[in-house]
Amino acid sequence: MSKRILLIVGGGIAAYKSLDLVRRLRERGMSVRAVLTKAGAEFVTPLSLAGLTGQEVHQELFSLTAEARMGHIELSRDADLVVIAPATADLLAKAAQGHADDLASTLLLATDKRILAAPSMNLRMWLHPATQRNVATLRGDGMLFVGPGDGAMACGEFGPGRLSEPLEIVAAIEAALAGDTTIPLPGAQPGPLAGRRVIVTSGPTHEPIDPVRYIANRSSGKQGHAIAQAAAGAGAEVVLVSGPVTVPDPAGVRCVHVETARQMLEAVEAALPADIYVGAAAVADWRVGAAVVEKLKKGPSGPPTLGLVENPDILATVASHAKRPGLVVGFAAETEKVIDHAQAKLARKKCDLIVANDVSPATGVMGGDANTVHLVTGAGVETWPTLSKQDVAKRLVERLATLVKETGA
Ligand code: CTP
Repeated sequence: MSKRILLIVGGGIAAYKSLDLVRRLRERGMSVRAVLTKAGAEFVTPLSLAGLTGQEVHQELFSLTAEARMGHIELSRDADLVVIAPATADLLAKAAQGHADDLASTLLLATDKRILAAPSMNLRMWLHPATQRNVATLRGDGMLFVGPGDGAMACGEFGPGRLSEPLEIVAAIEAALAGDTTIPLPGAQPGPLAGRRVIVTSGPTHEPIDPVRYIANRSSGKQGHAIAQAAAGAGAEVVLVSGPVTVPDPAGVRCVHVETARQMLEAVEAALPADIYVGAAAVADWRVGAAVVEKLKKGPSGPPTLGLVENPDILATVASHAKRPGLVVGFAAETEKVIDHAQAKLARKKCDLIVANDVSPATGVMGGDANTVHLVTGAGVETWPTLSKQDVAKRLVERLATLVKETGA
């Protein structure tokens, strides 16, 4: 079946490109229903959008005639993907705040589909902390972004803020459509974890040395993200606290993006209480005690000495927390004596289960797609065959659902 796009056209000088975008999408056999904001109508006419989409253009929230033909809730869901192009600073701010005072913002709040935004605005507006905050919030809520590009702007300035070219937006739309675009209501999926709240950490942490350098590790976030996705699929309400990764946010999961171990701990504590905690992140053990504000320069005194201090242990903190989840699961990334180290970690960090894996370079686990894990509990050790990270996640989630039920946690 041909894919259906709900295109929201915001008000900006680049709105004319949305007309070309419609043409490109229709060439690819997609149907496009357009929503034109009040500001958008200052730049393109409803007539040209109607002509190119071949459909009625929606403009008003409170339109009795339009509502009689198709209610705004139905309009928000009767598509495979919602695209905002151009996405103005104002539209993004409204979406980040959850406003619903016009048709476009109401649709963004009411939709159960993924939203792809193509921002377009003056570079100072784009770089303003308020816009960057809104974008970070929206990314955390699962909104996808394409662009903005860099270059000469209609206002005569040069920098980031240009609407991506229509073909780039088409490629982003095709990529989004290739994944699952329906967002389940948190906790509303039936499944063995229905009604449970799960916190998962994933990815590495980055610990700053100076404004341009940091300490990191090779964790990709693939395993942690797969666990968050599997837990959501099993009906749980999931909060995923992720360090910097390139894997996309899983659908149906609330994602909180952090950089450092201390930020990760703060986000995890803010997400408590929960029924299950899964610490899959490769948290940096140390940070630079005194990260400097200016870039370190080479000089006659030789290389700088980085004084390291220990980071808080998030897993151990959660396991001894006043709001301790019923089930606390840690990972153990080891390069030798995998089981011995995992057993020691289980006891030292007071958790209920450790998923231990060998991360020696030869195994290809770090960044790879497969994993061989051992489940270590007080009762013993169980070794699983080599599985894809998705399958490890599914099996682990099934096990957690059983454990949570058994222990009445
Ligand atoms: N962990 C954590 N906070 C830290 C370090 C680790 O929450 N500061 C968690 C990880 O998320 C993982 C588990 O502890 O679930 C084990 O991580 P790992 O790096 O294997 O162990 P470490 O405690 O760092 O011990 P070591 O580096 O000495 O092996």
